[in-house]
Amino acid sequence: MKHAHLGLLTACLLAGTLLACHAQRRLSDAELGLTPEQSEGRKIYDAYCDRCHEPYSTSDKQGPPLKGIFRKPYMAVSGLPANDERAGEIIRLGRSKMPGFGQTLSDRQISDLLAYLHTL
Ligand code: HEC
Repeated sequence: MKHAHLGLLTACLLAGTLLACHAQRRLSDAELGLTPEQSEGRKIYDAYCDRCHEPYSTSDKQGPPLKGIFRKPYMAVSGLPANDERAGEIIRLGRSKMPGFGQTLSDRQISDLLAYLHTL
């Protein structure tokens, strides 16, 4: 552990920028305190959503970041209420450039996914 830390520190010093140090190590499910359901949701997120949505930073990818998606009353881009019903609809049906996942993911998978989104 100590060595890993020193390695990271050295890498950051070499890069000579705080930005490089900002790219933090991915936390494990246990470190995030995820329930089994949320942890399943995270796997689905990584497989289907991560390429377009940042979960832990506010930068844009192809889609808006989902960090804190349920911590405000309305979702930033669609302006729809930030709740399971509306977010679930977007996930099932898609929206603008986002494809729908209603054919790909089961109801159970979507509910696990929503449980994970609540932790962001
Ligand atoms: C190909 C890229 C892409 C993929 C893959 C994708 N999305 Fe999206 N998503 C988008 C875009 C683009 C938008 C903005 C749509 C709009 O203009 O309203 C969006 C919007 C959303 C919104 C609404 C955000 C808001 O502020 O209104 C949610 C919630 C969301 N996506 C969740 C997901 C989840 C969960 C997955 C994985 C199952 C996923 N997306 C997969 C591109 C993607």
